[in-house]
Amino acid sequence: TTTPRKTVKDYIRTIADFPKEGILFRDVTTLFADAKGFRMAIDEMVQPWAGEPIDKVIGLEARGFILGGAIAHQLSKGFVPIRKKGKLPGATISQSYKLEYGEAIMEIHDDAIRPGERVLIVDDLLATGGTCQAGAQLVRRLGGEIVGCSFVVDLPELGGRTLLETQGLDVNVLCA
Ligand code: PRP
Ligand code: HPA
Repeated sequence: TTTPRKTVKDYIRTIADFPKEGILFRDVTTLFADAKGFRMAIDEMVQPWAGEPIDKVIGLEARGFILGGAIAHQLSKGFVPIRKKGKLPGATISQSYKLEYGEAIMEIHDDAIRPGERVLIVDDLLATGGTCQAGAQLVRRLGGEIVGCSFVVDLPELGGRTLLETQGLDVNVLCA
């Protein structure tokens, strides 16, 4: 007999009542900390777009930076951060998006993507899709073309995938 092979999901830990009571928080730090798990996640986030030209990898703050840096290195492409308001030093464009309560703003350097560049957007987790939708809007406002969006985890009951697909985005998730 053989032991079943571990999947990406097996490396993710769920922590109850973080950041507040009633929330089951998917903690990907245990995935990132494991050499096999982290490599498996990076490989699976890239695989669906094999054969598609990609010019830049975009990571969404904060855990998207960890994944996006590794993916950019694997593809031998540049990395571009999309950050929360006020963190980027150069000239930026901004996009507001809805949170559970209130709203937030994401920013990108206005010279980070040139018109016609093809980008892959990455983040650790897809919940309502608001963060990625704002990121996609920023990329499109700079004239970039989005090849696809890759996430480690999807929380399908929050409808993020449907929202993004409605905006014409191709979505890849490794587990729910
Ligand atoms: C989490 C997660 C995604 C976003 C997903 O980040 O890492 O970026 O929320 O939620 P959404 O699909 O509903 O927009 P968080 O806001 O906790 O920021 P952080 O990574 O900077 O802590
Ligand atoms: N984990 C990480 N980020 C999140 C989560 C979660 O469970 N829910 C919303 N953002």
